[in-house]
Amino acid sequence: MTALPKTVDSFVPTNDQKDLPPLSVAVPRVCLVTGGTGGIGSAICKRLAKAGHVVATTYRNEEKARAWEAEMRKEGFTFHTYKCDVSNFEETQRVVKSVVADLGPVHVLINNAGITRDSTLRKMTIDQWRDVISNDLDSVFNVTRPVLDYMLETGFGRIINISSINGQKGQFGQANYAAAKAGMHGFTKALAQEVAKKGVTVNTVSPGYIDTDMIQAVPENIRQAIVAQIPVGRFGKPEDVAHVVSFLVAEESGFITGANISSNGGHFMD
Ligand code: CAA
Repeated sequence: MTALPKTVDSFVPTNDQKDLPPLSVAVPRVCLVTGGTGGIGSAICKRLAKAGHVVATTYRNEEKARAWEAEMRKEGFTFHTYKCDVSNFEETQRVVKSVVADLGPVHVLINNAGITRDSTLRKMTIDQWRDVISNDLDSVFNVTRPVLDYMLETGFGRIINISSINGQKGQFGQANYAAAKAGMHGFTKALAQEVAKKGVTVNTVSPGYIDTDMIQAVPENIRQAIVAQIPVGRFGKPEDVAHVVSFLVAEESGFITGANISSNGGHFMD
């Protein structure tokens, strides 16, 4: 039996692994992350950039995006940013074309943009319902549709849909969000089957309660009650989610498709 290398850097591919790159070196890919200026989105952008990829992201709020870019530059990152309302189909088609014209075909798509409009159903307005469905679910179609053709032509693709624990277990006050996030995983499973033979994988990542602005918007007493239900005893970090994403993006993850990977501190197990 071959001895395990002491470090990843000393990894030498054996004959049957010779087509794989050493684990420490990523094949540079063009990645598009929607909603990259948010908490989880930022961590994903940084993680992909650190792995050597070219990263583009969409944003909606100009002022927030400029401040984010400045912050990222201070930390040593340069990202390609595109203003895009991903709930708008026509706008999204135009923006994806610009990304491809600037950077080349997109190999990796992270559908991360999303919003909440929490309310019990009895109080929920049609606008709260539509805003969440169009931003969280329609957006997945809007961005994936144009990007997919490039992936199929290239023969490589990674599509990762950032869903939520609340799409798996439901949540009081989130009929709109839970419906959109559960719908995302149905999309994943259907598309995974359509493109499996073409080198394109499609997976869902379901974060639990991650310490971001979205969680900070939940009333303090409810947040305390939630954290008490998490076996690991803390909210997640954006980096916890970025780690799962980078694992799925890796060249070696080509056999994982149609999966839903939870990162929730044991809050929900299925
Ligand atoms: N289960 C059962 N009953 C509950 C409940 C729960 N989880 N939460 C509240 N209730 C009860 C209340 O005790 C109250 O009962 P009484 O009328 O008998 O007193 C009743 O339901 C009404 O509750 P609220 O006063 O909270 O109702 P509200 O209209 O003021 O607020 C809400 C409703 C906006 C949905 C609020 O409960 C809330 O913000 N909940 C948190 C929702 C949540 O977890 N959102 C997650 C955001 S983070 C995210 O989404 C990221 C991710 O992917 C995980």
